[in-house]
Amino acid sequence: MESKFEFAKSLVKQAGQYILGHMGEDLQIETKSSPTDLVTRLDKEVQDHLVSEILSRYPEDKICAEEGCLRASVKEGAVWVIDPIDGTNNFVAQQEDFAIMLAYFESGEGQFALIYDVAKGDCYHGGGAFPVCLNERPLPAFKRKPLRDFLIAVNAGMLEKNEWGVADLGRAALGVRVYGSAAISFARILSGRLLTYVTYLQPWDYAAASILGESLGYEVVTLSGQALDFKTRQAVMMLPLEMQEEIQSYIYERKRT
Ligand code: IPD
Ligand code: CA
Ligand code: CA
Repeated sequence: MESKFEFAKSLVKQAGQYILGHMGEDLQIETKSSPTDLVTRLDKEVQDHLVSEILSRYPEDKICAEEGCLRASVKEGAVWVIDPIDGTNNFVAQQEDFAIMLAYFESGEGQFALIYDVAKGDCYHGGGAFPVCLNERPLPAFKRKPLRDFLIAVNAGMLEKNEWGVADLGRAALGVRVYGSAAISFARILSGRLLTYVTYLQPWDYAAASILGESLGYEVVTLSGQALDFKTRQAVMMLPLEMQEEIQSYIYERKRT
């Protein structure tokens, strides 16, 4: 597993270098499900590169990736989950606050994952048997504080309509942030700068965070209380288990009213 993990680390760094080297060129921006759901030439090229490097080295492995139709189930065999650029709108509009995400599972068990904040050069990696690090520095586990002392991140649409009570949770916290990238939001939880992140996500958006958060005391859970299905878009939140009850009291109370 060690060599697979090392391979994954050098692969995401390489992909990040590729993005930095080509982001000044024509990005060939297209829309997908809506006018604000963007994809660029680099999302596709980076995904193709990651998939072909993984499969040429590990031909038996399977892939679940955002662009196109590779949708292996994480429950069976050796599966890589890929989001080639998370925060594509930030990438297009700001050239920062976007990340590459990779997560690796064997028979449904997360083995390791990576979130690479390309513009900052920050790589969050580890999980499974590996310590969770930011670059080469191990990250400390969650440390409890009063809810009022923490910032939280949410999806802007949910905040506007107070869906699931997220605005109520935000009012009980120090403040609310909207980063436009699941990866960047999760990275800020892992590094202790945010308490929780509440949003709707696809499997490739939360797979890496679900693996990276575990040994630091966090879990990605659905808002409804059902299991994460790793197949469909679900309302989810990443939270520290130590404060789960307090955080979810806001979420579930609102849903019942
Ligand atoms: C999106 C971003 C965004 C989140 C969306 C995701 P993409 O990923 O993470 O913050 O709100 O749900 O789809 O499309 O930039 O990879
Ligand atoms: Ca993406
Ligand atoms: Ca994404």
